[in-house]
Amino acid sequence: LWTASRIIDDAIAQVRELVGTDKVLLGLSGGVDSSVVAALLHKAIGDQLTCVFVDNGLLRLHEGEQVMEMFAKNMGVKVIRADAEAQFLDALEGVSDPEAKRKIIGKVFIDVFDEHATKIKDVSWLAQGTIYPDVIESAAAKTGKAHVIKSHHNVGGLPERMNMKLVEPLRELFKDEVRRIGVELGLPHDMVYRHPFPGPGLGVRILGEVKKTYADLLRQADAIFIEELHAADWYHKVAQAFVVFLPVKSVGVVGDARRYEYVVALRAVETIDFMTARWAHLPYELIERISNRIINEIKGISRVTYDVSSKPPATIEWE
Ligand code: XMP
Repeated sequence: LWTASRIIDDAIAQVRELVGTDKVLLGLSGGVDSSVVAALLHKAIGDQLTCVFVDNGLLRLHEGEQVMEMFAKNMGVKVIRADAEAQFLDALEGVSDPEAKRKIIGKVFIDVFDEHATKIKDVSWLAQGTIYPDVIESAAAKTGKAHVIKSHHNVGGLPERMNMKLVEPLRELFKDEVRRIGVELGLPHDMVYRHPFPGPGLGVRILGEVKKTYADLLRQADAIFIEELHAADWYHKVAQAFVVFLPVKSVGVVGDARRYEYVVALRAVETIDFMTARWAHLPYELIERISNRIINEIKGISRVTYDVSSKPPATIEWE
C-alpha cells in the first residue's frame, strides 16, 4: 500500500543502509525536489548532511532568506549559504544569447558549489533530487529520442569530478508523490506546491543582458503578480506564472510627469506536462489590478503586457 509515511520510512531505511556513518552533501536550490531531499536526509542522517545553497542573485524576492529560515533556522539543517550574486552577474556581463547565459550560469554554479563543497572534509556522497521523470527524460536524451530545445541546467558531471557516490532517494517517485512526502515531512504546503522555477532563474526571464537593476525590478513585479494570483485564488489554477523583463523603454505619464521606463510581460500557462501549454485565460479585472499595481508601485516600470502565446510554437519561458 502506498502511503506517504511508508515511502518515507522505506527511504530513510535505505539511505541509512547505503551511507552508514558517511557524510553527505546536497545542493539545495529551494525548489521542491531538493527541499524534499533535504528534509528526508535530515530525518534519516541528521548532522551527517550538509547542504550548500547557492544564491546566484537570480532568485525571486526574499527567496534566499526563506530557504535559510526554513531549513537552517526552523529545521536545524546544516546549510552553507554561498552569496554569489556578484560572481554570477560579473560572468553574465555583456552576454545576451540565451544558451550562452544558461551555460555560464551552469558553470558558475558548479564553480561556486565546488568551492564550498571542498571545504567540507571527508564527504563521500552527493545527494540529488532526481525524480522519476528526470530519469526517463535523460534516458530518452541518451537514445536521441528527446529533442533538446533548451539545455537544462543541472549539476551533471559533478559527482565524477568530485569523486563522490550518488544518493538519489526520490529516483522512483513522481512529482505528486514527492509533494505528498514533502508535506508529510513537515515542509510548508506553499513551498511544496509552488510553481516550478528554472535552474537559471531570473537569468532567462530578463531578456538579453542580465543586470542587477533589471533583476531588482523583475523581482518586485513578479512578487506582485504572484501575490495577486493567490489573493484571487488563481495561483493553483495555473501551472506556472511569472513576469518577464523586457529591456525596452516605453513612454508613460503619471500625474503631470512623463515617464520613460521599462516594459514587463505577464506569463501564465495551463499545462499538465509542460510539453504543450495554453496561455491562461485570467480574468480581465485581475490582469487590470496586477497591471495597475506594478505600474503604480514600481518606479522603473511604465507598461505591462500579457503574453497570449501558447506552446507550441512559443515556449513557456521567453528564452
Ligand atoms: P519551456 O520554456 O522550454 O519550459 O517551454 C518548460 C519548463 O521547463 C522549465 N525550464 C527550465 N528548467 N532549466 C530548468 O531547470 C532551464 O534551463 C529551463 N528552461 C525552461 C520552464 O520553467 C518550464 O517549467
